[in-house]
Amino acid sequence: MNRTPAIEIRYGRIDEADELAAMSRELIEKGLRWTWKPPRIVTMMRHPDSVVLVAQTRLGIAGFAIMEFHDRHGHLNLLAVADARRREGIGAALLAWLEKSAHVAGIEQITLEVRRDNDGARAFYRSRGYDEVAVLPGYYQGREHAMRMVHQLIEPDLARQRPA
Ligand SMILES: CC(C)(COP(=O)(O)OP(=O)(O)OC[C@H]1O[C@@H](n2cnc3c(N)ncnc32)[C@H](O)[C@@H]1OP(=O)(O)O)[C@@H](O)C(=O)NCCC(=O)NCCS
Repeated sequence: MNRTPAIEIRYGRIDEADELAAMSRELIEKGLRWTWKPPRIVTMMRHPDSVVLVAQTRLGIAGFAIMEFHDRHGHLNLLAVADARRREGIGAALLAWLEKSAHVAGIEQITLEVRRDNDGARAFYRSRGYDEVAVLPGYYQGREHAMRMVHQLIEPDLARQRPA
């Protein structure tokens, strides 16, 4: 069964930066100093090595994700789904789009940090094949710990055989 029948995954537009920044403040950065303001989102939209994706529904934007593509790894900066649209597969659909693109680009692994006390997001990422590899004390503005998580797209043995 298709759990996300009316969702379109597409690139975010410059005129949506305010809305995405507000989603970051409310859904991701809650309780911390707001760092993902509109100009930073616009910078990511314009940067050739990053992607800002949105999940568009008939009623508006239900979720978004931002990822940076480096030479050998991708870093997932932000991923959020509106409260009312959770557990419909939207987060998984955004992540799958990014993983597929990263894989095609020859990227070996995707890394991310998530608040250590964010049990729901940690369970989400584990369900998508991400391993918890390190706790980063005070990572968020010296106030909250992070969990670093990693997902291998290419087996480490294979990756080692590639030219530097
Ligand atoms: C984490 C988040 C993006 C997940 O988005 P979502 O669209 O609800 O996730 P999906 O519906 O694709 O979930 C896929 C699977 O992940 C797991 N999962 C997702 N949310 C979960 C939760 N709160 N608790 C336990 N498992 C969860 C489940 O296995 C789920 O499959 P199921 O619904 O069939 O059981 C969403 O909860 C969110 O926006 N949280 C607030 C922002 C945030 O913390 N972002 C991450 C840090 S940047």
